[in-house]
Amino acid sequence: MTDITVNKPQPFLPQEEMVTYYRGADLPTTLKTLEEGNPVLVTEFYNNGSVLLKELQRHLNKKLPNKTFKEQREYRAAYHKLSNLIVIEIEAHQLAVKKAPSIGWFSKLYPNTPDFLLTFPQVQGLNSAWQWYENGITIPVLRNKIHPYYGVYFPTRFEHLILFDNWVKRYEGPKKNAIDVGFGSGILALQMVKYGFQKVFGTDTNPNAIIGLTEAMGETKLSRKIDLDYGSLFGKWDKPTELIVFNPPWLPETRHSENLDEAIYYNKTLFPAFFEAAKEMLLPGGKLVLIFSNLAQITGLSKTNPIEEELEKGGRFKLEDCYKKSVKRASEKTKRDLHWRTTEEVELWVLTH
Ligand SMILES: C[S@@+](CC[C@H](N)C(=O)[O-])C[C@H]1O[C@@H](n2cnc3c(N)ncnc32)[C@H](O)[C@@H]1O
Repeated sequence: MTDITVNKPQPFLPQEEMVTYYRGADLPTTLKTLEEGNPVLVTEFYNNGSVLLKELQRHLNKKLPNKTFKEQREYRAAYHKLSNLIVIEIEAHQLAVKKAPSIGWFSKLYPNTPDFLLTFPQVQGLNSAWQWYENGITIPVLRNKIHPYYGVYFPTRFEHLILFDNWVKRYEGPKKNAIDVGFGSGILALQMVKYGFQKVFGTDTNPNAIIGLTEAMGETKLSRKIDLDYGSLFGKWDKPTELIVFNPPWLPETRHSENLDEAIYYNKTLFPAFFEAAKEMLLPGGKLVLIFSNLAQITGLSKTNPIEEELEKGGRFKLEDCYKKSVKRASEKTKRDLHWRTTEEVELWVLTH
């Protein structure tokens, strides 16, 4: 565990003299400062930061067209650049302004740095992540809430977890060992333990996933049932098991992917490397279970499904079963942008040697 470094926003290095933003500060001067590439420090009230972000949006809306795909990208790039020059001060692990939310990540993620600066958008991200972590999320297939650690993937829709739950519930093979590749906040591992697996070995390439689940399990019984390794695919685990599960990223990365989140986007090598390694790591008679979705295909991001491709060309595995479940329509609010959601389906693939 000693070689794991948590992912967190890098502190902003203070400049000598910084322009400050407060109620009644001259807006054109403030915006000019940002456009010249200089930081602006939010003072007095936390809300001043949100006000300045809104003013920045208004300013850019007047200045930049935001219609075509290219214009939207340029608009977002400009907003990203300027909004990240808006900074705020943290003192003794607390925001140094009035009426500010209290964000526990400051002491958890920066234990030896009580005073520092972050950009305002980073602090907004830390704040919402803290709400999720503190309040927890109810997952229909688990008795206890999960408390997702900063920067770790957690599900917001649950159809695929229900599909997996129904499958493990009926699974009648041996339950000594299983491997959960890319365990994230640990839900699939917890489901396997719930149905009687004695030991689950998990891996993830996101250090925060290891730190988060280790903390969540603490000294409980679970910590003796779930072993974690920070590494790619099977990490340090080299003993073949009777069950391997993988809920991989569902979208192929493209030239235009702005956010290369490893929980969401896969690169060309991920699936071939996974199947190659899984062939060695699956016991004879064992099951390889993948959770996937037709999201990439129905949005036109991809013409093929990497699991079907493996079955057709890999020559390593046979299809035992594929279960599908349609995904509830997106909420009313987002529906108009996501008309394709109507045909979205999650898939549970069961492969054998
Ligand atoms: C879609 S999330 C699934 C998380 C969790 N298993 C679940 O079902 O809620 C994919 C996870 O795989 C991890 N991941 C991506 N590439 C990986 C790799 N090559 N090896 C191990 N984990 C990987 C990501 O960091 C992320 O936590």
